[in-house]
Amino acid sequence: MELFDVYPLYDITPVKGEGCYVFDETGKKYLDLYGGHAVISIGHAHPEYVKAIQEQAAKLGFYSNSIKNPLQQELADKLEKVSGVQDYSLFLCSSGAEANENALKVASFHTGKDRVIYFNNAFHGRTSGVVAITDNENIKAPFNLGHKATKLAFNDIESLKNEIEKGDVAAVIFEVIQGVGGLDEAESGFYKAAADICKENEVMLIADEVQSGYGRTGDFFAFQKHGIRPDIITMAKGMGNGFPIGGILIDDNIEAKYGMLGTTFGGNHLACAAGISVLDVIAEENLMKNAKEVSEYVISEASRIPEIKKIKGRGLMIGLEFDFEIAALRKELLFEHQIFTGASSNKKLLRILPPLNIKKEHFEIFFGAIKKALKNQQIDKIASS
Ligand SMILES: Cc1ncc(COP(=O)(O)O)c(C=O)c1O
Repeated sequence: MELFDVYPLYDITPVKGEGCYVFDETGKKYLDLYGGHAVISIGHAHPEYVKAIQEQAAKLGFYSNSIKNPLQQELADKLEKVSGVQDYSLFLCSSGAEANENALKVASFHTGKDRVIYFNNAFHGRTSGVVAITDNENIKAPFNLGHKATKLAFNDIESLKNEIEKGDVAAVIFEVIQGVGGLDEAESGFYKAAADICKENEVMLIADEVQSGYGRTGDFFAFQKHGIRPDIITMAKGMGNGFPIGGILIDDNIEAKYGMLGTTFGGNHLACAAGISVLDVIAEENLMKNAKEVSEYVISEASRIPEIKKIKGRGLMIGLEFDFEIAALRKELLFEHQIFTGASSNKKLLRILPPLNIKKEHFEIFFGAIKKALKNQQIDKIASS
C-alpha cells in the first residue's frame, strides 16, 4: 500500500535522537535547530522523559475518559505551577488543531454566538473550524468554507472594534507570535485594547500558544509579556516533546457541562506521563532561563551578519529575515552542514525553533555554517553574473 502523498520529503531518514541532535540510518549526525517544527522542547530522548513513558507503558498505557485518572490532575497542578497562570481549568486533547477547535467550541457555547475573528497570516491548524480561520486559501476544501469567519490586520484596533460591535462575534483568536506566518507579533497596546473590547462585549479572547507556548519564548506563554489575560489558551507542540498531547486552559468563569467537549485519546495515561515529565524537566533544568540567555547570544551574533535584515521573534522562537529567498540556503545548511532549520510563508525568513536546552556552542556551529554558506552563495552569484 502506498502512503497518501501529501508531504514533500527531504531524502533523510532520522532513526535516533539525542538532545539537540538527530542521527540518520547511516549514523550521520544532524544539529536540530527546528525541533521537528517546534515540538521538541526538552531535547530528543531526554532520559527522564524516556523513563517516565517506559514506566507508564509498563503499568497502564491507556484507559478511557470514563474513569478517574489522577495523572490528569497532576499534570494540571504542575502546569499551573510552572506556567504561573491561575484560575483556569484544563481540558486535554491530542493536537494543536484539536485544541483550537475545542477552544472555538467553548467560546461559541459560552457566548451563544457563531462568528470568529482571526488575523492576516494566521495558522491555526487543518481541521474544519480552524482551517477556516487560517490565512491560506489553498488548504481549505469547499466543506471548510461554511464557517463564519472574518480576517483582520494586527494592530488595527478600529476595525476590530467595528466588527465586535456588530454583536455576533464569539471569539477573537490570535497567535501571540505567528509561526507559519513568519514571526509577526502585534504591539502590547493592540493586545490590551483587544482584551478590553472583548471583555466589554462578552467575546472570548483565545491565545493560540500551540507553537509559542511551553517556555519557547523564555516566558511560559508568549502572551505573558503583554500583560493580558486570555479567556482561553491553547497548547500542543512542546507539551509532549513529541508525544501527541494538546490542551486548552479555560477561564474559571466559563462553566463546564457534561458532554460539552470530549475525546477518546486526550489526557490518556501515557500522554500525561509524557506531559508531566516535560514540565518537570522545564522546571528542574531552568529551560525558560536558558531560552532567554541563548536567545541573547543568537540575536547579537545574527545582528552582525549584513545579509540578515531583520531578526524577529523572542526566546528560541526566532526568525532571521535575509535579503534574499532562503530555500537554497536551507538546503545547503541541511545537506552540506547537517543542520535542520525551518521556513515560513515569508520566503526570505529562516525559522529557528530548537530544543529549549540548546547551548551557545550549538549556535556557534550554526553561525560558522551560515557564514560559509553565505560566502558560497556570493561565489555562485558572481559565477552566474
Ligand atoms: C500556532 C499553531 N496553531 C495550531 C497548529 C496546529 O497544530 P497541529 O499540527 O498539532 O494540529 C500549529 C501547527 O503548526 C501552529 O503552529
